[in-house]
Amino acid sequence: MAEWIRSNRPEYQVIGVDDLSGGYRDHVREDVVFHQRDLSKDTIDDLFSANDIRYVFHFSAYAAEGLSPFIRMFNYNSNLVATANVVNNCIQHGIERLVFTSSMAVYGIGEPPFDEADLPNPIDPYGVAKYACEMDIRIAGEQHQLDWCIIRPHNVYGCNQNIWDKYRNVLGIWMYKKLNNEPFTIFGDGLQKRAFSYVDDCLEPLWNAATRASCSRQIINLGGITHTSLKDAAALLSEVVGGAEIVYLEQRHEVKNALPSYQKSIDLLDYVDKTGLKDGLTQMWNWARQQPDRPRMHWEKYEVEKGVYTFWK
Ligand SMILES: NC(=O)c1ccc[n+]([C@@H]2O[C@H](COP(=O)([O-])OP(=O)(O)OC[C@H]3O[C@@H](n4cnc5c(N)ncnc54)[C@H](O)[C@@H]3O)[C@@H](O)[C@H]2O)c1
Repeated sequence: MAEWIRSNRPEYQVIGVDDLSGGYRDHVREDVVFHQRDLSKDTIDDLFSANDIRYVFHFSAYAAEGLSPFIRMFNYNSNLVATANVVNNCIQHGIERLVFTSSMAVYGIGEPPFDEADLPNPIDPYGVAKYACEMDIRIAGEQHQLDWCIIRPHNVYGCNQNIWDKYRNVLGIWMYKKLNNEPFTIFGDGLQKRAFSYVDDCLEPLWNAATRASCSRQIINLGGITHTSLKDAAALLSEVVGGAEIVYLEQRHEVKNALPSYQKSIDLLDYVDKTGLKDGLTQMWNWARQQPDRPRMHWEKYEVEKGVYTFWK
């Protein structure tokens, strides 16, 4: 997003804040002013005081949905407490609009296609945290006149995504496995459907979320016009990477079909699903093969051991 803004709206400076727990310093462009801070505990008041900040894109999160029941405290700190810090500063410093990336995880056991008007019903602490953040932001809108737009992205993938974390980003996990001569793994029968969206297609819509009057105080699903089962996605990626063995593991606690309604994203954000899955996977794979051999994210100790899947033990 920072890259998109600097390239397409160069009249804006971008100040980036990230604790680098799941991101990498070398992914940050040189013309982005970068501060390494942990939003769950560090102050950011100085950044707001020293700059005339118009829009805040709050993307930071630890988005490991399936892992979240085993790291509840970490999940709520990195997702909910960190959001409270951002919201406090947005209120205090009177910014023009906060764009928050929530998640399709808020829908949980809802009936697909998931619609923005549905009552959220998350099935894991990550979804609960995102829903709580949404509610907190809406309350700040009512009581403190904070302007906001809440985006619920659906399985975004692409270049610069973290492929070194074994708990999240299924397509990245498979690419890491191919690079390390391991088989692709699928939880359950692989018939669960996801609505994959290529990151580049989401960037101008995110900018529109911040800047268009029509997006003020709106909740909008983003992405996911086409649906794919994980089994088919694995087969397609196998084609792209020149072949891969596919192994099926035990079923985990997850939503069967996470498919959104998307008309609002077309009407309000001008979202266009330009990049088909094969094309997007090819671009991401070409990027992934050029990446350095970074250490893989692994939890030394879960907060709750009970029920941890054998493949994560
Ligand atoms: N990628 C998807 O498919 C998807 C889907 C739904 C929602 N989202 C949401 O969109 C946002 C961006 O997702 P992404 O895929 O780019 O994730 P990402 O992990 O690549 O980016 C999140 C960044 O937040 C940083 N971070 C984590 N905890 C932090 C903390 N306490 N303080 C400061 N920085 C912290 C990480 O280092 C990382 O760079 C997240 O909020 C995620 O929940 C993503």
